[in-house]
Amino acid sequence: MPSKHELRLVELDEDGVNTAFRADVLQGLSEAQKAIPARWLYDDAGSQLFEDITELEEYYPTRAETEILKGRGSDFSEAIGPGRAVVEFGSGSSVKTPLLLSQIAPAAYVPLDISGDFLRASAEELRGKFPGLPVYPVEADFMRRVELPEAVADMPKLGFFPGSTIGNMVPRTATDLLRTMRETLGESSKLLIGMDLVKDPAVLEAAYDDARGITADFNRNLVRRINRELGGTIPVDQLSHEARWNDEFARIEMHLVAQADLAFEVAGRSFAMAAGESIHTENSHKFTRRSGNMLLLAGGWTPVARWLDSEERFSLILAEASIPRSAP
Ligand code: AVI
Repeated sequence: MPSKHELRLVELDEDGVNTAFRADVLQGLSEAQKAIPARWLYDDAGSQLFEDITELEEYYPTRAETEILKGRGSDFSEAIGPGRAVVEFGSGSSVKTPLLLSQIAPAAYVPLDISGDFLRASAEELRGKFPGLPVYPVEADFMRRVELPEAVADMPKLGFFPGSTIGNMVPRTATDLLRTMRETLGESSKLLIGMDLVKDPAVLEAAYDDARGITADFNRNLVRRINRELGGTIPVDQLSHEARWNDEFARIEMHLVAQADLAFEVAGRSFAMAAGESIHTENSHKFTRRSGNMLLLAGGWTPVARWLDSEERFSLILAEASIPRSAP
């Protein structure tokens, strides 16, 4: 089952192998800096490990974003206003979405997700919590323009994209997604988006390399998945998890570093890694006020309000689809 982070439709070959996964892995292992797209981290086991990460002491983003959503209710209702159809990109978590919906008097809730299972579960949960609120789940890949249900056609929209998932995309992909969201939501829409902030690299590295080793397990699970689904022979215990701050690009990178010279096969092809060489498995970009604003503007959104948690670790930004007329 694809998870909410695995944003593509699944195509299987006659042996039941996910062809896009195989193509990405074979291509990624053939490059000078081996790299595999982060979306493949989220099989069932990976999705569960990510849920466990969100509860770790060191992993502050989920707590910080929840604190903002809980504490700034009147700000949200004032800035967003009532009567919007809330369109959530990725099915809502059981905690964050109700916090938003309870504060802004929405007219409808439209969760978008590639996984019908996630979608149905979160739609049911929300219907239970908000009995009078129309909920219209849409099974779709939100990286492409989505046709929203006819019932919300005339309602102003609020896009909701929490969690700083935008940071897992390189700026080019992030910009493409923001533009696509604008097309999906329409001219008079708003967007409430989570962006994690640049901070002390030691805090960031701890958040992505926790003492209990859950993030290391999340990273290594990708290799277990490759071995299981693509007939791989990669020695998992010879790869160590590393979280590196890349100051040039303001991002935490997850790598799997070979502890010895390695030789292995994947899908019938042979690969080698020298000791110390790594497979790059994830980027998590961190933003400043300016870099977050620039990314939004590049994606066709004008930032209008910004809220931080009490320790100023995480931001929620409200943006409008309109481009200021004064812009030269
Ligand atoms: C899903 N995403 C926003 C997480 C992040 O913080 O970049 C994924 C993650 N990777 C390691 N820990 C959490």
